[in-house]
Formats: sequence, structure tokens, C-alpha cells
Amino acid sequence: MHSNIDTLFANLWQDYVAITPSAKKVHELLGETAGKVALINDHVAFRTFNIDKVNLEKLSQHFLALGYEEKGQYNFEQKKLKAKHFEHADTTKPKVFISELLVEEFSADVQAIIQNMIANIAENAASQDDFLYSGTHWQVSSADYETLLAASEYAAWMAAWGFRANHFTVSVNHLPHFQVLADVNAQLKDAGFVLNTSGGEIKGGPEVHLAQSSTMADQIEVQFSDTKKQIPSCFYEFAQRYALPDGDLYQGFVAASADKIFESTNAKG
Ligand code: NI
Repeated sequence: MHSNIDTLFANLWQDYVAITPSAKKVHELLGETAGKVALINDHVAFRTFNIDKVNLEKLSQHFLALGYEEKGQYNFEQKKLKAKHFEHADTTKPKVFISELLVEEFSADVQAIIQNMIANIAENAASQDDFLYSGTHWQVSSADYETLLAASEYAAWMAAWGFRANHFTVSVNHLPHFQVLADVNAQLKDAGFVLNTSGGEIKGGPEVHLAQSSTMADQIEVQFSDTKKQIPSCFYEFAQRYALPDGDLYQGFVAASADKIFESTNAKG
């Protein structure tokens, strides 16, 4: 386990931008516009399978050890996912959103592909310092990737990319030159970035105390066991939080919005 939060997130960021070049460009663009301020991350999201060796609980240990606390639970019935979010007492540290795929709810074929992937992982791997950005511990065939993709975009993404940050999220509240998320989106579109429009460009809003948008994932070439394929990697998210009646900013997540954000790694078209 890492003993320093900033080192962990710095390593996660390096791994993430290496396969998400657009996030690096957006990061530079927003940082410049804001007068070269450091961007604050609202949250960082992780994906996994609900298999003991690597489940949500195993991933969360890395953050609990750094002083994070579990704060919310979410269910995505259609996508067959469960998720939890974690917060740190230091509110400048990103919240952490971890989801896990409910493997037993899929066909025997799909389960077998996933179980074969996980069988390649060393028994104690999930507790290693670098596990959260260790990528894949296996290589699947392009046919197995397609089988997973037909059943679950999330399962296919995991097969290709493994353990790493699925997305970082800019806190719009901490961008001094932007008042609202719509203005951030407008600047990104002007600069040629493609936003996820599933469920509308902005998911949520003041009525649920959280507004979110995201880019569509970059398309990156991946080496499968038999061939190379160009597939979606990671995306960048933007979140604006609104005050609750007591004056504090809402810190939770909105399942209906997160459901659409997941689709940022769908293949276009
Ligand atoms: Ni997110």
C-alpha cells in the first residue's frame, strides 16, 4: 500500500495520461485558462470484478489505509454493477469511486473468460503498492474481447485495460475562471474535444446537487493475443457540486448520472 496520497495519485495520473492523451491536453487547456492554477480533482474512478482476489473491497483497502472513509453505495442494475464512494477529511484530496461488475449475473461463456483473466493474477497482487495502476495481468484474444463487449462494455474495458484509473474528474467549483459547467463544456467543444451526449451533455444539475459531463474516451491501439485493435481507453470528467440547504456542498454521487458517465468508454457509433 502507498503511504502517501499525493504519490499514489501522481502515479495514477501518469499511467492514465499515457493512454488518454486528450486528458493531458484538456488538463493543460483548463489550467492555462484558469491562470495556471493547479486543477483540483473532484474524484477518481476505478473499475473491477466482484471476484474475491480483486473485488471492490480489495481496491478500497488502498484508500482506507490512507485515511479515506466509505460514504455512499450505489447499484446499477441494468449494467450489473455495484459501487461505493470514499472521501478523505482533507477535501482537496479527490473522492474515490470504485465499481465492481457482478460476474455471476453473466452467461457461462462470459464468466469463463473473466475467471481465466483473474486466474493469472498472483494471490497477493491486490495488496501491492502499484496494484491500482498495474493494468492487465493477462492477455485475451480479440474474439474473447468481442464476446465480452457484446455482454458488457465494462467487462470488455477491463479485459483490455485492467487495473488503473478509469477517469479523473476536474472539480469545476475549484476553477476560478468558470462559474458553471456549461461554460467548461463550451470551451472544450470550441477546442475540438468530443463530449459524451448520452443522457444529455450535462448529467444531473442543481436539482440533484451535482452536474457532470465528460469527454468520450480516446481510441488507442491495444495488442490482443492474436491481433491489434483500436479501442476506447479512458475519458476525462468534469463535475460541479451545489450547496445543500445547510450550505455545505453535496459530496455524494447520483446513480442516474453515473449510469450515463459509464458510457463514455463505449465505442462511438
Ligand atoms: Ni466519475
